[in-house]
Amino acid sequence: METLTLVVFGATGDLARRKLYPAIANNIMSGLLPKDTRLIGTARQVMTDQGYRRLVEESAGRSWPKSAPLTYLSGDADQPAVHQALAEHLKGTRGLHLFYLAVPTQLIGPVVARLAEAKLGRSRGRVIVEKPFGVDEASARTLNRQMQKAFAEGEIYRIDHYLGKETVQNILVFRFSNGVMEPLWNRGQIDHVQITAAETIGIEGRSDYYDHSGALRDMVQNHLLQLLALTAMEPPAVFSAEGVRSEKVKVLSAVRPVRAEDAVRGQYQAGMVEGVRVRAYTAEPGVAKDSRRETFCALRVFIDNWRWHGVPFYLRTGKRLPERATRIQVVFKAPPLDLFEGAAQTNILTIHIQPDERISLRIGAKRPGLGTHVDPVEMEFVYASSFRSASAEAYERLLVDATQGDPTLFTREDEVEAAWRVLDPLVQRWDRETSCPPYAAGSWGPQTAAALIARDGRTWLDP
Ligand code: BG6
Repeated sequence: METLTLVVFGATGDLARRKLYPAIANNIMSGLLPKDTRLIGTARQVMTDQGYRRLVEESAGRSWPKSAPLTYLSGDADQPAVHQALAEHLKGTRGLHLFYLAVPTQLIGPVVARLAEAKLGRSRGRVIVEKPFGVDEASARTLNRQMQKAFAEGEIYRIDHYLGKETVQNILVFRFSNGVMEPLWNRGQIDHVQITAAETIGIEGRSDYYDHSGALRDMVQNHLLQLLALTAMEPPAVFSAEGVRSEKVKVLSAVRPVRAEDAVRGQYQAGMVEGVRVRAYTAEPGVAKDSRRETFCALRVFIDNWRWHGVPFYLRTGKRLPERATRIQVVFKAPPLDLFEGAAQTNILTIHIQPDERISLRIGAKRPGLGTHVDPVEMEFVYASSFRSASAEAYERLLVDATQGDPTLFTREDEVEAAWRVLDPLVQRWDRETSCPPYAAGSWGPQTAAALIARDGRTWLDP
């Protein structure tokens, strides 16, 4: 295995602590990253190498492997000094330099520019960049240009951690390794699709980031549109990074930019979530009392291509909802004749991304006994009973892929721009809104969300 130096910008931040260090530690332990992986953390905070080791070990919940050296460099990521120190440090090291940018989006451009000035870019460097990638289409485009000055596109890995989830990767396998799906997977058979990413958590102390972002930028531009792309894309000619990513770009380019009348937003108020009383969004530490940032949104989306013309995709996500569940529900058209007196079933195929990972198909079945009564039942594939092995954490898988140079599960420059283009009219409009409709924590969002789908004679498929 090639020698690896992993440089983390934003080394003391929430993401590094919650996701990155546990993933790096697990990967080194299980031999998926080299035993002697060199970890260099950099952030503003002044800290010794020892202090950094403690922070990393606490985050990873285990002692750091003795074989893996660990260093901390303090400094401003957008200033030359820390990059010069880094260059000094990396002098004479062999193997791959992987720069992990877990920094706010506005710092990404300056950081890569400083890396290039310190000659740490093109030669042996690869960069992983966290979301959000820009704040709209124009800024994403600018960021792409800035990054490509320092690194070749092939060495830029834009992360969307949903793509690292086993159940998300299985969407393409489910669709394209089973011949039975394809004839059903189109406007002829499908009435509509619902994609829900519901969370019970609030903003978990991330007010600095979240209050500038909101649900649309935080979840829809990346995770939800990726789920939509995987559900709706055409089969690639070959299963390769470029094959898969080109098809995703193609379908995202066919998504009609969302109009204001096809979207609703909301902000959580105080309420009860899973039996616990929680505060309102504007009472969260660090959030302005008059913040108008949305913590919920629901959208009706159309794809203007032959497969999907006229089939609405309803997307919704929110914080402080009644349950944690991410799922894709494909609702099929009703049978042409109702032979069993009002019992004709709407078949619903649900891909449960998390938790309780499974795929189920709702069908009608005859209730045992006299007469002919039809009940809805579920046919299921359950990961936990079909497969013994637990799935790897998304970040573990993505780190390995980035190290090995496989970009399939990372978003390409044109893909991230295409996703922003879908939402651009909305982000700009919502940034100017002077109010945000409330919803009680523990509810399924504002009334307007129900109205958005009811307008089409449909309802959200809550459990
Ligand atoms: C992150 C968002 O990208 O995804 C968070 O910034 C959100 O706000 C998280 O909570 C959800 O990820 P997961 O893997 O818990 O569904």
